[in-house]
Amino acid sequence: YEAKIDLSDMEKGTYPYYMLKEIDEQPATMRRIISEYTDETGAVAVDQELLTSLLASDRIYIIACGTSYHAGLASKQIIEQLSQIPVEAHLSSEFGYNMPLLSQKPFFIFLSQSGETADSRQVLVKTSEMGYPSLTITNVAGSTLSREATYTMLLHAGPEIAVASTKAYTAQIAVLTVLAKAVGEAKDVLSAKSFDLPMELGIAANAMDVMINEKELISQLAIDYLSTTRNAFYIGRSEDYYVSMEAALKLKEISYIQAEGFAAGELKHGTIALVEDGTPVIGIITEAVTAPHTRGNLREVESRGAHTLVIVSEELSKEGDQIILPVVHQFLRPLVSVIPGQLIAYFATLERGYDVDKPRNLAKSVTVE
Ligand code: AGP
Repeated sequence: YEAKIDLSDMEKGTYPYYMLKEIDEQPATMRRIISEYTDETGAVAVDQELLTSLLASDRIYIIACGTSYHAGLASKQIIEQLSQIPVEAHLSSEFGYNMPLLSQKPFFIFLSQSGETADSRQVLVKTSEMGYPSLTITNVAGSTLSREATYTMLLHAGPEIAVASTKAYTAQIAVLTVLAKAVGEAKDVLSAKSFDLPMELGIAANAMDVMINEKELISQLAIDYLSTTRNAFYIGRSEDYYVSMEAALKLKEISYIQAEGFAAGELKHGTIALVEDGTPVIGIITEAVTAPHTRGNLREVESRGAHTLVIVSEELSKEGDQIILPVVHQFLRPLVSVIPGQLIAYFATLERGYDVDKPRNLAKSVTVE
């Protein structure tokens, strides 16, 4: 197939690295997804057969790897809240062995920026043999996972060249939001009908713009906290935990810092033993209900010498918090809270002198098992 890549997109232009260009393209991608998936009245428009197939399902399995898996985790809440269908997110490489199907009518969603990831394709081959319906959400039209699934939805994010995936992560969450809204509306779910997708996603795009314009602050923090450290932690609860996993992967794969995205409440059950004088611990706090607990965990690690940094939603912020996130719809917070993590990884890598776009040992698409 001819991948539909617009050569003009392939140029870095004034950007030093594709990764920075792709981070900056995220708000525009949100707006493009709104226009691609809504009609002139602002109503969500998805393939009718796909909708019918999802309406008949009793459980959604999201199957993906790496950053795409993290996007699936971060989207679980919004899909369940809007569609009222239970969702499980699984790593492709873990799911293929003994597929634990706890439902009569499962529906499989494969998240894959490249549409060529072997671990994910192997699961798709099995689910197809079992006769289950599937949707591939991908950035590459005509890719293997797209051709072999029952249905396809495109990310419309434009080519993602940097190995470290950024705009595909936020685009996957946005497209899953579109899908959840469509299913929920078809089921007459109140939370779906009242969720104004074009408005909420548009507000999130504006908030992403605000964070993208904080490069000066974020680059300084990345240098202060991460220029020489060997390890680092991102911590959070619930969706903030899932975003912590993604922020840690960004840091690991391009700056080579041993980073972990960790459940804040779990630290005291062993891992806190790794925290020593100067260990960077970055807390992500976007939910009122979990905020006091995560702040407590940050105090715990501070008492052990950690160098803490707080990424927090505006309405929860306190004196001394370093990175403040604009307020967006509760289900869309990961779209905004991930951006500091993306930029921190970018600037820490520059500071440490590594190749941002082509990290060692990694390929853009893992087409082998
Ligand atoms: C993310 O920054 C990595 N490059 C990697 O984890 C990637 O997300 C994973 O290999 C899945 O790729 P896919 O989305 O193309 O399937």
